[in-house]
Amino acid sequence: MKGDAAISGAVHRDRPHDSAEKHVTGRADYTDDIPEPLGTLHACLGLAEVAHGRLIGLDLSAVLAAPGVVGVLTAADIPGRNDISPNGTGDDPVFPVETVAFHGQPLFAVIAETREAARRAAVLARAQIDPLPHAITIEQALAAGYPDVTAPLVLERGAVGPALAAAPHRITGRMTVGGQDHMYLEGQIAFAIPGEDDEVTVHASTQHPTEVQQMVAQVLGIPANAVVVNVRRMGGGFGGKETQMNLFCVIAVLAAKRWNRPVKIRPDRDQDMIATGKRHDVVIDYDLGFDADGVIHGVDATIAARCGFSADLSGPVTDRALFHADNAYFYPAVRLRSRPIRTNTVSNTAFRGFGGPQGMIAAERMIEEIAYALGRDPLEIRKANFYREGRDLTPYHQRVEDMILPRLVAELEDSAEYAARREAVLAHNAQGGIIRRGIALTPVKFGISFTATWYNQAGALIHVYKDGSIHLNHGGTEMGQGLNTKVAQVVADAFQVDIERIRITKTTTEKVPNTSATAASSGSDLNAMAALDAAEQIKARLVAFAAESRGVDPADVVFAPNEVRIGAAAVPFDRLVHDAYMARIHLSAAGFYRTPDIHWDRAAGKGRPFYYFAYGASCSEVSIDTLTGEYRVERVDILHDAGRSLNPALDLGQVEGGFVQGMGWLTTEELWWDDHGRLRTHAPSTYKIPLASDIPRVFNVRLADWSENREMTIKRSKAVGEPPFMLAISVLEALSMAVASVADYRECPRLDAPATPERVLMAVERLRGG
Ligand code: MTE
Ligand code: MOS
Repeated sequence: MKGDAAISGAVHRDRPHDSAEKHVTGRADYTDDIPEPLGTLHACLGLAEVAHGRLIGLDLSAVLAAPGVVGVLTAADIPGRNDISPNGTGDDPVFPVETVAFHGQPLFAVIAETREAARRAAVLARAQIDPLPHAITIEQALAAGYPDVTAPLVLERGAVGPALAAAPHRITGRMTVGGQDHMYLEGQIAFAIPGEDDEVTVHASTQHPTEVQQMVAQVLGIPANAVVVNVRRMGGGFGGKETQMNLFCVIAVLAAKRWNRPVKIRPDRDQDMIATGKRHDVVIDYDLGFDADGVIHGVDATIAARCGFSADLSGPVTDRALFHADNAYFYPAVRLRSRPIRTNTVSNTAFRGFGGPQGMIAAERMIEEIAYALGRDPLEIRKANFYREGRDLTPYHQRVEDMILPRLVAELEDSAEYAARREAVLAHNAQGGIIRRGIALTPVKFGISFTATWYNQAGALIHVYKDGSIHLNHGGTEMGQGLNTKVAQVVADAFQVDIERIRITKTTTEKVPNTSATAASSGSDLNAMAALDAAEQIKARLVAFAAESRGVDPADVVFAPNEVRIGAAAVPFDRLVHDAYMARIHLSAAGFYRTPDIHWDRAAGKGRPFYYFAYGASCSEVSIDTLTGEYRVERVDILHDAGRSLNPALDLGQVEGGFVQGMGWLTTEELWWDDHGRLRTHAPSTYKIPLASDIPRVFNVRLADWSENREMTIKRSKAVGEPPFMLAISVLEALSMAVASVADYRECPRLDAPATPERVLMAVERLRGG
C-alpha cells in the first residue's frame, strides 16, 4: 500500500475563509463583541494640541470632576518603564514627561464608567506647554537640522560615480509620494481584565501579541508570565496593528490593575487617525544614467521618509524601501541611501509592503523617465533592464535565481492584449479630445522574509482529542487574510482528514510563546510550517503505535482520506486515535519552524535577506478628463505569482484587495497636515479610500498556476499578503501617460502620488504651459 495514499485535496484548492459566513452575517466576534463584565470601565486618550513644546503642567482637575470619571492616568502612574518602543530604542513614551513631540500626542488617559463619559471628560484638560519650533515636513526637518530617527542604510555595488559620468544619457529628478492611513474597518481596541496578584488578560486587536505581552510587562514592571494576550481576529490590520496597539493595551492594563476592574479602550475614528502612525510618505531623489537602448548604467538615489517623532519601525521600513528600489531591474552600478527623517508628526509605522512600495515606485519612475526621454514604450525599457542570467545581482548582493518574471510579463502582455490596446490608446489620444487615455504594464518583484532574521521563526500547538477532533493553534494572527484557513488546510492535508474536523482557535500567548508579528506576508510560510511540524510529530507517534499494535512495518501505515491503512486493514481516523489514547500515546505536540538560508549584514549592506521573491504584473488602462482632472480606471489585468497556491480563492482575494488598496494610496488617499502640525484629514469625510464604485470596470485577475516556489516553502506556495499592493503602480503610470498625451509624450509628466484629480489637472495644465 506504500505511497498510494489518495490526496484529500485539502491544499491547493479553493476553500472559503473559515469566518466568511460569520463576517457577512455579523456573527464573527471581534474584541468589542466580548460581553463586558459588570463594572467594566472605559478609557479615552487626551491629546496634545501643539506640535512641539515643553510640557510645563497638566491640569486635570476639570477632567476628574466630570460626571462618571473614576480617575486619570499620566506618566506619573507608570510603575515600570515609560516606554513602548518596539525595538527598545526608548523613544516612544506611553505619555511624554518633558516634551510634546507632535500635535495629537496622547498626554494622559481618563477612565470613566462609560465610554461617552470618558470622551466628554478628555477634552476638559488644560495642558501648559511652552511651544518650541516645529518641523512638520521632510524639508522643514532637514532645514532645522533634526537628527534622523534611526541609522540610515546605504546599499552600494560597483562604482556609481564613474558609471553615471560615462553614461550616454543622464537624468536627475525628484518624486514625492504620500503616506496612507490604514483605515482598517475595526479600529484599535484593547480590553484588559485584571486577575489575581500581578496577573492580567488582554483581549486586543493586535498583529503582535508577544510584543504587547512584553510591553505590558515592561510598563507595569511585572514578568511576561503574568500577562496573557488574546486575539481571536482583527477587522483588518494592514501593518497598523503591528506596534500601534502597544499604547492602547498598556493603558487598558494600567487602568485595570489600578482600579481592579475590567477596562476597555476604543478610540473613535478621529483619534485613531490622529494618534496612530501611518505609511511613511517619502521624497525620492534620483540620478540616473542610461544608454540609447534604454539600458540603465547607474543609479544613485536617496529615499527620505517622514518618520514622525520616534523610530518605531522606521529603520526596517526604510531599509525595505531600499531593498525594493531596484524592483525587477538590474543596476550595473548603484548607490541607494535611506534618510529616516525625524519630524513633529505621529510616528509612522508598518503598512502593507513595509516601505517596499515606496522603493519600488522609484524604480518605475526611473523607467518612465527613460521611456519619455527616448520616446519609447516604457514596457520595452522594462524588458531591457530585467534581471537575467549574468545580470542577476541586487544592490544588496543577493542573486535573483528564479527568472520567472519575463514569462509572467509576456503572458500578461498577451492576455491583456497590451500592444493592440496601447495602439488604440495612442490613436484615441491623437484625436486630441478632452478625454485622454493611458495604459501601463508594470511588474512586481517582492522579497519575502523579515529582514530582522530572528523574526523568521514560528510555533504551533496541536491537540488531537480522543474523539478524533483536532485543536489547532499557531502564533499567527487572523486579520482577514485567511491565515487560519490556510494553516488548517495544511493540517487537514497532513492527517488526511476533512477540514471540518479541525478547530481553529484564537491566538494566545498562553499556547505559543515568543511569536513574531504576523507581518512581512510570512504568516502562512512560517505558521503553516510550524503546524505541519506539530502534525508530523503526532502522526509519527500514531504510525509507531499502529505498526506495533498490529504487527506491521511502519512503512505500511498510510494516512488515507479519513482513515489510516495499517497493512491490509483500514481503520477510521477516530478509531485509531481512540485506540492510541487507550494505549497512552501522547496526542499533543508543539511544532516549530525557522526559515533556512537567510542572513543579512546591515553594516556591510550584503547578504541574502530574502528566502525568495514573489512576482506579479498588472496592466491598467485609465481615462482622464483634461478639464477637471477626474479619472476612471477602465480596465485592469493582473497575473500574480503565489507559487503553488495553498488556496487560490483566498489568494485571489488578497491580490484584488491589495491592488485596490494600492490604488487608493496612489490616487485618492491624501493625508494633509496644516502648518501647526494638525492632521486635517482625520475621518472618511476628508480622507478618501476607494469605494466599491472605484473598482476597475473590467478586472481580470489570475494566478500564475504554473508557478512553483523553487525553495522548500510550505507546499511550494508563496506569500501573497503584500506583493499585490504594488501592482497598483500601473494605475499611476497609466494616469501619467494620459497626462503626457497633452504634450505629445515629449515630456515625462513626473506625476507625484497621490495623483488626486487636482494633481492630475495641475500636471495637465503644466504640460500645456497653462
Ligand atoms: N488582508 C486583510 N484582509 N486584512 C489585513 O489586515 N494585512 C496585509 C496582508 N493582507 C491584511 C491583509 C499585511 S500588511 C500583511 S503583512 C499580511 O496580510 C499578513 O498576513 P500573512 O502574512 O498571513 O499574509
Ligand atoms: Mo504587514 S505591513 O508586514 O503588517
